[in-house]
Amino acid sequence: MAKVRFLCSALTYHHHHHHLLLLLILIILSIVASGEETKNFYIVYLGDSPGSNDSAVQTHIGLLSSVKGSEHDAKESIVYSYTKSFNAFAAKLSKDEAEMLKELDEVASVFPNRYHKVHTTKSWDFIGLPLTARRNLKLERNIIVGLLDTGITPQSESFKDDGLGPPPSKWNGTCGHFANFSGCNRKIIGAKYFKLDGNPDPDDILSPIDVDGHGTHTSSTLAGNLVRNASLYGLAKGTARGAVPSARIAVYKVCWVSSGCADMDILAALDDATSDGVDVLSISIGGATQDYVTDSISVGAFHALKKGIITLVSAGNEGPNLGSVSNHSPWLLTVAASGIDRQFRSIVKLGNGESFSGIGIDTFKPKENFYPIVSGADVAMNSESKENAKFCYDNSLDPGKVKGRLVYCRLGQWGADSVVKGIGGIGTIVGSEQFLDTAQIFMAPATMVNVTLGETIEKYIHSTRSPSAVIYRSQEVKVSAPFAASFSSRGPNPGSQHLLKPDIAAPGVDILAAYTLLKSLTGQKGDTQYSKFTLMSGTSMACPHAAGVAAYVKSFHPTWSPAAIKSAIMTTAKPMSRRVNKDAEFAYGAGQLNPARALNPGLVYDMDEMSYIQFLCHEGYSGSSIAHLVGTKSINCSSFLPGFGYDALNYPSMQLNMENGQQPTVGVFRRRVTNVGPPSVYNATIKAPKGVQITVKPTSLFFTRHLQKRSFKVVVKAKPVASTTFTVLSASLVWKSTRHIVRSPIVIYSLQD
Ligand SMILES: *[C@@H]1O[C@H](CO)[C@@H](O)[C@H](O)[C@H]1NC(C)=O
Ligand SMILES: *[C@@H]1O[C@H](CO)[C@@H](O)[C@H](O)[C@H]1NC(C)=O
Ligand SMILES: *[C@@H]1O[C@H](CO)[C@@H](O)[C@H](O)[C@H]1NC(C)=O
Ligand SMILES: *[C@@H]1O[C@H](CO)[C@@H](O)[C@H](O)[C@H]1NC(C)=O
Ligand SMILES: *[C@@H]1O[C@H](CO)[C@@H](O)[C@H](O)[C@H]1NC(C)=O
Ligand SMILES: *[C@@H]1O[C@H](CO)[C@@H](O)[C@H](O)[C@H]1NC(C)=O
Ligand SMILES: *[C@@H]1O[C@H](CO)[C@@H](O)[C@H](O)[C@H]1NC(C)=O
Repeated sequence: MAKVRFLCSALTYHHHHHHLLLLLILIILSIVASGEETKNFYIVYLGDSPGSNDSAVQTHIGLLSSVKGSEHDAKESIVYSYTKSFNAFAAKLSKDEAEMLKELDEVASVFPNRYHKVHTTKSWDFIGLPLTARRNLKLERNIIVGLLDTGITPQSESFKDDGLGPPPSKWNGTCGHFANFSGCNRKIIGAKYFKLDGNPDPDDILSPIDVDGHGTHTSSTLAGNLVRNASLYGLAKGTARGAVPSARIAVYKVCWVSSGCADMDILAALDDATSDGVDVLSISIGGATQDYVTDSISVGAFHALKKGIITLVSAGNEGPNLGSVSNHSPWLLTVAASGIDRQFRSIVKLGNGESFSGIGIDTFKPKENFYPIVSGADVAMNSESKENAKFCYDNSLDPGKVKGRLVYCRLGQWGADSVVKGIGGIGTIVGSEQFLDTAQIFMAPATMVNVTLGETIEKYIHSTRSPSAVIYRSQEVKVSAPFAASFSSRGPNPGSQHLLKPDIAAPGVDILAAYTLLKSLTGQKGDTQYSKFTLMSGTSMACPHAAGVAAYVKSFHPTWSPAAIKSAIMTTAKPMSRRVNKDAEFAYGAGQLNPARALNPGLVYDMDEMSYIQFLCHEGYSGSSIAHLVGTKSINCSSFLPGFGYDALNYPSMQLNMENGQQPTVGVFRRRVTNVGPPSVYNATIKAPKGVQITVKPTSLFFTRHLQKRSFKVVVKAKPVASTTFTVLSASLVWKSTRHIVRSPIVIYSLQD
């Protein structure tokens, strides 16, 4: 259980408490509801586009009245009418009422509301966007980036509006005065919060203010101002900045410390953001992804796409498990996390002179040369607590034997450092079986080592009468990079065999960005560390890096479609090594994003929203199940089919699933590229591993004009693999001109068992 950010994942500490709380709430609910049917929130999509606001709202109440029996009951149960970019409403319904609504002619679909969870300086230089990068400032100041997150910290230096003019004239959104939030400026031009279930969140504030830190961090990574001498207690010191420091920020708070992020709030925020006029949406939320047509982020982003807005999402922190990638719709740009060339390490020295390097952020300087050290397993409170003491769980250790000492603990749950400190211990060495590539922040002297080193430490403790050790303050060390972060969710895409996800990798390990002063660095009991900047890890941190690059590209090419921007980012990515990252494209997609090259991709794989609808039909979705995306009553899927090719999508990557058996698997991919550079000739280069044959026709593309389109066909033939395990083979197609390299990964995989 790595503590990485996928919005509000700091909550993972208290996971079990939350389950208890939920259970309690459920029990109370069922007591209250006895004799009456339980009602839950549902989202009801109507088949047509909204007319005027007033008539749409009237229609919603009318429909609801027909199942509720009265207009009064309808008005009581409706919580939101979505009328701006799509036609839907959210209401509290019984199961029967939901079923009755589904039967109505006007209704396209009904989905239960679910809850999602929350998944520097250096990183921009590392991926090649230095302070001195070429900028189109006039247009960059007109770019509006929207974030759905935990809110923002308006006092942060990252969000000062020095040098910015009034909001761009296209801005349609609003910003008011809220509790603990004194309003916007010319940097943060929009701020709203969404909490439609009506229940207050005891640990949060009904306001766009960020009491968690996550939203402040992602916003400043995307579009924060330059802040010199930013650091976490002197660590990671440098100039903190976003990708587009002159762009404007619109904040949509949909995630709450205790209750997470509800579908109906996410939809309301996306409905608003779409008509507010944002250019780019960054959503570091996940955890409840289902299919392409019921997931709130997927549905809301599709409506944004129709208005030309590109949406970037985090891939999730469920890695390295295969098939764990979330937010995997074809119209989303799904971002995996990679590591940069910096780690935070602490030296641990034992009394016998041996020393090791542990990973983690420890801001404390030791006062003594050595401290006595014990193993948690040896200092249990009593014989019953012995098993828990091994992991240093709360109430398992004997304070008398811990006071004044360091303790070695096996990693069980987060917060061993807080437990040890709480009963008078000096510090903690945590032995972890996980792959250690991210630095956790500790609230007391502590570090993390792998179990091999842990065993060495335990052996030493038992080898001498008065074992001693010391943990030094963390330091930065250089490591080789980029690498796919161990926690970053992996493909293959559970939503489709024909679509590679994640799309791209961006820095998401130990990222320094702005933070809130309303929460300590760890959020743990007894933590007295507060800082305006902090280090966080997660695909949540990778997503705003990619969103920032999308905004950067848009500031040079304001008319490009979301698909064109996405293509530019993917085809110019720096290939990553499958020798270092064994899950290959399933870990990093097209590779590490490369902002400077993304500005000038040469060719783009463009498409409009109907291409995605065609893809959904091809994937077997029924015409009626996808109608709410388009805002019509039904779609005639057979008018598209058959014969557009293997995946029916003009996507910048290709994926082929090998069939079992003796026959080779063949995939035919039809693609069309648009020339966004000068007149040129492009020649194809294919790279294919053994057992895979790839041909492309034609092998040269001639462009005599800007924006000219050319089609080609790729045939991939893969021999059956003998192996009985999971196989992923990496190939690629590169279109090369004298000026440009346009690369598409081609992935061939098998899940045989
Ligand atoms: C739409 O109607 C609702 C309810 O009548 C109202 O609260 C809201 O402000 C209206 N929105 C717009 C954009 O007119
Ligand atoms: C929010 O504002 C209220 C009222 O001014 C104040 O009492 C409270 O301490 C503030 N909370 C935070 C976290 O700043
Ligand atoms: C930089 O920050 C550090 C710690 O935050 C502080 O001690 C130092 O005075 C600052 N230096 C400058 C030049 O502002
Ligand atoms: C701004 O709001 C108006 C009125 O609600 C709407 O007609 C217009 O399309 C909106 N602008 C954008 C960019 O969506
Ligand atoms: C543990 O860390 C040490 C030192 O970094 C390394 O040599 C060893 O291979 C690691 N063991 C495992 C199981 O990762
Ligand atoms: C759907 O499209 C097919 C092919 O174009 C056509 O034959 C069929 O009549 C259409 N069905 C409906 C209900 O419009
Ligand atoms: C493309 O191929 C043609 C014919 O094989 C060759 O003349 C030309 O130099 C090639 N162009 C590039 C950019 O490699």
